[in-house]
Amino acid sequence: MRKVYYADELIEEVRSRNDIVDVIGTYVNLKKKGNSYSACCPFHHEKTPSFHVSREKQMYHCFGCGVGGNVYTFLMEHENYSFPEAVEFLAERAGIKLPEQSMSPEAKRQADVRTKIKDMNRLAAGYFHYLLKTERGTHAMEYLKNRGLSDETINQFGLGFSDVYSDDLYKYLKSKGYRDEELRDSGLVKYDEKHGASDRFWNRVMYPIIDTNNRVIGFGGRVMGDGKPKYINTQDTPVFDKSRNLYGLNLAKKSKRKGIIFCEGYMDVISMHQAGFDNAVASLGTALTVGQVNLVKRFTDHVYLAYDSDEAGTKAALRALEIMREFEMPTRVISLKPYKDPDELIQAEGTENFERRIDQAQSGIMFEIDILAAQYNQDDPQERTLFQREAAKKLSLILDPLERKNYTDSVARQYDIEPDVLKEAVTRYGVAGAGRIDTSVFREQRPRKSPEEEKEEKHLKAERLLLTWLVNENSLFDKLEGVITAEDFFEPVYHDIAAELFSQYHKDGKVIPAAVINHYQSKEEHEKVSRIMQQNFDIEVAQSDKSKVITDLVKGIRLRSIQHQIELAQGDLAKTGKLMIEKSKINKLIIAL
Ligand code: UTP
Ligand code: MN
Repeated sequence: MRKVYYADELIEEVRSRNDIVDVIGTYVNLKKKGNSYSACCPFHHEKTPSFHVSREKQMYHCFGCGVGGNVYTFLMEHENYSFPEAVEFLAERAGIKLPEQSMSPEAKRQADVRTKIKDMNRLAAGYFHYLLKTERGTHAMEYLKNRGLSDETINQFGLGFSDVYSDDLYKYLKSKGYRDEELRDSGLVKYDEKHGASDRFWNRVMYPIIDTNNRVIGFGGRVMGDGKPKYINTQDTPVFDKSRNLYGLNLAKKSKRKGIIFCEGYMDVISMHQAGFDNAVASLGTALTVGQVNLVKRFTDHVYLAYDSDEAGTKAALRALEIMREFEMPTRVISLKPYKDPDELIQAEGTENFERRIDQAQSGIMFEIDILAAQYNQDDPQERTLFQREAAKKLSLILDPLERKNYTDSVARQYDIEPDVLKEAVTRYGVAGAGRIDTSVFREQRPRKSPEEEKEEKHLKAERLLLTWLVNENSLFDKLEGVITAEDFFEPVYHDIAAELFSQYHKDGKVIPAAVINHYQSKEEHEKVSRIMQQNFDIEVAQSDKSKVITDLVKGIRLRSIQHQIELAQGDLAKTGKLMIEKSKINKLIIAL
């Protein structure tokens, strides 16, 4: 489907002025390897890099999960942008001015809503921060100072105060020209039949939530004292999805410290940063999510948990460890005992002791086993056996054999178990695969295929392979002149691509793969097209065999095309006769490379 609201030339200019390696490099830690750059894929979890970016082709591809495309596809996948939004983002990045009216009305409306919400949030954050510093904010300022925050910290986090009147912000934003409907969309104002508009946040200290692009996307507001609820947060809006954001990551991503420290609360993050641990973040009042791990994965390869030391915190840590394990993200747990949370610990013990606690953080597995141990009476032989069995199951989950052995040894030592006996149990559970995390859910699931489907698939593969070959070896165009045309490609998308490639070659004497993708708007189409452009040959073909392979490919595609035309001729003898002659010629075809 071609629904492009910007001119093709403009889309191509924007694309060509944004180098894909530079753009993706701001999200993913790319390592240069020969002509291409690689990294662990940001779209599925993996330990060894199968995500490749080619500067030459201006395309990316993941051999692990199959995603791929050009710089637009990447932003659509990674930032959840629509195609027009991706174009706009990159145009701005390259300093290219786009014509206003080119957007679809609906896309424009949605983009406007988002822009307005971000503007309102920024205004609100500025206003709250300003209020905090006026007479009206004296009480709030006192509260923050009492909690040990410096002016510098207050400024760095942009903390603020929402006034005691329940329509203070509403009036302020109205004075800036926003309409009621827009104010409601932002989540800053709520409405009800009886009372009309009122502020969501009033008489609270305000914590703006800022995303990794430095945009204010929402707020947390804390009551000063013991009132309930303790915190109120922005509900999900078109710019705020709390399952895909982390408080403090805008600062933590720039930290020079190793790893990211997860805590539970706003105040924990602020306290930790003030104490120099500027790699701390907090999930936004919810259990850790897959989206949040995906987010930090861009910035670090290991994490720490500094969750509250109470029962709820321990439970949250255990759940977080499960998610981290799915991502194979090495995780250590920082003990805060006897204090409740990182904030209290730092207030009580200071910076140095926290540093020591980081160094002594326990690996996730040992933390889990310690918790397990506490649930059994180790003096009772039967309970002890049950514990050892559960511990062995846990250990069997460790994928790396060396690591597994080391942990097994240390558990044996710590809990006084015969090392060989424990090792044997771990191996047995490992072999049985008991409880091993099933990673297949992250991959595509394919149902079984019928013989017709397989034949069809083989044909599609031939078409795809030939296109890939053309992209990789432009000299092939001359060899195929007069033998095959775009019209012979059966699958509609491949037909379009072939037409585009042949016409590019005839015009410029070469093809620009990344430009072909511009013509498509959906992520699915981008992926389909990019697979052709980026993938190297599915089969490794020796030079001597190349002529035979290419001949077979072209023959297969042409013969099917002719067969199709014969069916369309519906018994027209003259036409059918010609096609039969063509068919016998093709049967004798030999292409020499
Ligand atoms: P805590 O109750 O541990 O609060 O909740 P805290 O961060 O230590 O706050 P202080 O030190 O008492 O000021 C942890 C996090 O859970 C969310 C907030 O994000 C909070 O920071 N939360 C908690 C809410 O969203 N609403 C609540 O009512 C309570
Ligand atoms: Mn606290």
